[in-house]
Amino acid sequence: MQPAIPFSFPGIDADVRRLGSLLGLGLHAAGWQAPAKPAVLNLACGRADETGVLLAAAAPLAAELFYLGIDLRPPEIAEARSRWIPAAPPGWQLDFRAGDASRTDRMKQLPPFDFIFIRHQNYWHDPTVWLVLFKNALAALKPGGLLAITSYFDREHELASACLLQCGALRRAEIPHPHSRPLPDAPGKSVDRRLAVFSAG
Ligand SMILES: C[S@@+](CC[C@H](N)C(=O)[O-])C[C@H]1O[C@@H](n2cnc3c(N)ncnc32)[C@H](O)[C@@H]1O
Repeated sequence: MQPAIPFSFPGIDADVRRLGSLLGLGLHAAGWQAPAKPAVLNLACGRADETGVLLAAAAPLAAELFYLGIDLRPPEIAEARSRWIPAAPPGWQLDFRAGDASRTDRMKQLPPFDFIFIRHQNYWHDPTVWLVLFKNALAALKPGGLLAITSYFDREHELASACLLQCGALRRAEIPHPHSRPLPDAPGKSVDRRLAVFSAG
């Protein structure tokens, strides 16, 4: 699926292509068997630039799927909607909602999910909120479903992974990104620097 409008910043195309390869490796290592009609959730998705590569990796053959992105920021959600909803093939139901991704337990109309993705999780911004977010995300997985995170920083990745393990998750794959693009705003920060894939138990 190609975006209906161009990405907002130079370099995103290449970043998301590399992320697609990384996700392919991680899902394969975790034993992912793509369902015929998957439900995919993208939490704290921001502009959800990765939507195309995420669905290509998690749902390569799906004629039908449900995909939902949730983020606190309405402008990012509006941008995601205009980029991806017009690009969806027939049979793919894409939605993006502004809301609190830690409270999926209160979103009663949500289906259980086969795959949940959290790109550049933000654990150390507010560990208490992220603990709730991770617990509810694990509870929203179908049996056999997988949850994957990527991180900008090694230490934040380790803290978020420890939190998920504390919530009862099992780590199925852990992959450092061999071609992660360094970011100049902080030492040791790079795009999708680490990927980890978990099951609920
Ligand atoms: C580091 S950014 C990552 C955004 C996007 N996933 C990406 O990789 O480009 C963290 C995102 O988490 C979102 N966020 C933080 N806490 C949230 C919450 N409780 N519910 C929804 N979104 C949240 C922020 O609005 C922000 O877009």
